[in-house]
Amino acid sequence: MNDADGTAGEGTRAVRAGLPEPVKHEPTLPGPVFAAHFHLPGDPTGPYTYGRDENPTWTLLERAVGELEAPGADGVEALVFASGMAAISAVLFSQLRAGDAVVLPSDGYQALPLVRAQLEAFGVEVRTAPTGGDAQLEVLDGARLLWIESPSNPGLDVCDIRRLVEAAHARGALVAVDNTLATPLGQRPLELGADFAVASGTKQLTGHGDILLGYVVGRAGEPMSAVRRWRKIVGAIPGPMEAWLAHRSLATLQLRVERQNATALRVAEVLRKHPDVTGLRYPGLPDDPSHKVASQQMRRFGCVVSFTLPTRTRADRFLEALRLVDDATSFGGVRSTAERRGRWGGDAVPEGFIRLSVGAEDPEDLVADVLRALEESAD
Ligand SMILES: Cc1ncc(COP(=O)(O)O)c(C=O)c1O
Repeated sequence: MNDADGTAGEGTRAVRAGLPEPVKHEPTLPGPVFAAHFHLPGDPTGPYTYGRDENPTWTLLERAVGELEAPGADGVEALVFASGMAAISAVLFSQLRAGDAVVLPSDGYQALPLVRAQLEAFGVEVRTAPTGGDAQLEVLDGARLLWIESPSNPGLDVCDIRRLVEAAHARGALVAVDNTLATPLGQRPLELGADFAVASGTKQLTGHGDILLGYVVGRAGEPMSAVRRWRKIVGAIPGPMEAWLAHRSLATLQLRVERQNATALRVAEVLRKHPDVTGLRYPGLPDDPSHKVASQQMRRFGCVVSFTLPTRTRADRFLEALRLVDDATSFGGVRSTAERRGRWGGDAVPEGFIRLSVGAEDPEDLVADVLRALEESAD
């Protein structure tokens, strides 16, 4: 079964995503194909010619990612990349030319300002506006591309993707959505009208904190062909081993997402009641400012919870006191991680701001660890 019509349940789709038809004596998920070149007598026709252009292990992973991002959709193409940033850069730099304008979120992933500087150096006009309140609408006129990150990292604001897509398309702009935080099981940007769903597969998609990966999914056509050309030009390709590990990880995506996101809600509920916690954000909390819009477009609300402790030292002490949560950047892994986001200097967040990524530990253990660390780190 390859669920071509997208009617199977999400767990079923995740465990079977991208699998080839069974072949006697072959494994269910064929192993990684390590090849810089493929036998190619005569005219150089595909599918497999040179390892920077195509690889059978990518093909299966791309099929899987396409099935998850756009179940049952025809004519959808997926491309995998060496990292999320490779995927993001591939869309931006393949679609934009000198003289074009692009709208980025002002509160998105902290490498976006670097991307902005590079786009400006190439003569692209870059406008920014916050994710919350659909503020990007106000700077859309004349833009060639709208870049959405919803929920945003690390502030967890959400915008109305459908509304922004409609406004952008009415003005002739393409729309890309960074779907990293939600994962395709939480949100499907193409169904909300976007032209590209882009993500870092480094996070919850693969979920073990051991590989970097990125992807772009879009409808077949010139924009996606340009993204493919960009991958060939820049060569930001995943290794076959990473691609295979990623595909292997997709089989547990639904299990991980269910567990991690449910625990994230529990942790958020506990944090909400704690007197030392302010600025708590989790789109799944009914009283979160993002909840209403998030509920309209998301099926799950992610595994990341953000909040602020009174001071930088308090936040550092809290992180040190945690036993089940590693002090580390990134998010989405089966082992919980947290960090004081202000240590990087790139996000507009208070000094005591913490981004907590909830893993697959037993919820009771994690809640107890967080509460104990809050108590032990108190003044
Ligand atoms: C929302 C978001 N997009 C993109 C990226 C970049 O992904 P990668 O680190 O795989 O390049 C990140 C990384 O944290 C992210 O959080």
